[in-house]
Amino acid sequence: MARLAPTMPDAPTKSSIVPVGEAEVDVVAASDAISDVELLSRYEALLTDDDRHRYSQQRFEEGRRRFLITRALARYVLSINCGVASDDLVFGADQWGKPMLLHPCENRVAFNIAHTSGLIVVAVARADAIGVDIEYPSPIDENFEIAQRFFSAKEVEALRALPPKVRDERFFDYWTLKEAYVKGRGVGLSLPFNCFAIDFRDGSRPRLAVEPNVDDGRKWQLDLMSLSSGHRLAVAVELPPSGRPFEVRLSRAVPFNVLASEQSGETGPSRPMAAGIEDQPAPSKARFPQCRDDVSSDCEV
Ligand SMILES: CC(C)(COP(=O)(O)OP(=O)(O)OC[C@H]1O[C@@H](n2cnc3c(N)ncnc32)[C@H](O)[C@@H]1OP(=O)(O)O)[C@@H](O)C(=O)NCCC(=O)NCCS
Repeated sequence: MARLAPTMPDAPTKSSIVPVGEAEVDVVAASDAISDVELLSRYEALLTDDDRHRYSQQRFEEGRRRFLITRALARYVLSINCGVASDDLVFGADQWGKPMLLHPCENRVAFNIAHTSGLIVVAVARADAIGVDIEYPSPIDENFEIAQRFFSAKEVEALRALPPKVRDERFFDYWTLKEAYVKGRGVGLSLPFNCFAIDFRDGSRPRLAVEPNVDDGRKWQLDLMSLSSGHRLAVAVELPPSGRPFEVRLSRAVPFNVLASEQSGETGPSRPMAAGIEDQPAPSKARFPQCRDDVSSDCEV
């Protein structure tokens, strides 16, 4: 029977966040269920004008809170990694919307964000680029049709060969890794999902297969893990020229306090963890981002 388990076990967790090491990827996860009014208002004070505009456009309370906690979590993690107050960090975005740090961070830090119902993650590494994705695999009738429409021919064939239940699980492995990779590149879904393939063949770390005119697959380290909450988490990080691999670690920050420049005290979780990742309510069905219908066949792998 095909191997269902992720390619690496749950990463070890730690309760306090420290700057990421040269050969590490830190994935910091937070619950989106923080309800401490004082904490939330402190997060709100950190919003930029642009954030505030997007915040005001969130129609539902759940989305508004997730948006707010995401911004605060990113500032929290990056302030520790850059060694500056969280409200001093200035963010921008590339043409495809990938957030980046404009100022001020003396350390070389790449980061990326993903959220899904119940969970928000920020991944950081001392690398040129990183992408992260998180999904909650749920049986969806049309998984295989989605794969046939958007995945590469090799991936569709590999899925077709699996028993239906295993196929559902593997579909989400593909999806999460593919999205982490396009997020690492920063190009979003403008890079059609059939332009590259995830190769699970040898049972070790998944590999990226891509035509040389699109990218060099050897440049990317892909990692996939299952969280005890059932979420699937994928990271794509660009390797250094030496090819030295990264170790991926998962940490939790629930709830967390942001350290503004005018405040004093320690940066770190403000009190003991109130709710672990395992305690999250069952997330709703996975929702896939709007994808291009006119997938290109020029780059098919
Ligand atoms: C990046 C993208 C794939 C994420 O989709 P998603 O599954 O809905 O959301 P996730 O939770 O995984 O990630 C969302 C986060 O990714 C980050 N992000 C946004 N655009 C990104 C990009 N181009 N590359 C990397 N990360 C991006 C943001 O931090 C965002 O969270 P925020 O809005 O709270 O800041 C999707 O938003 C996208 O493709 N955007 C680019 C637009 C595009 O290419 N459109 C063409 C459609 S054919």
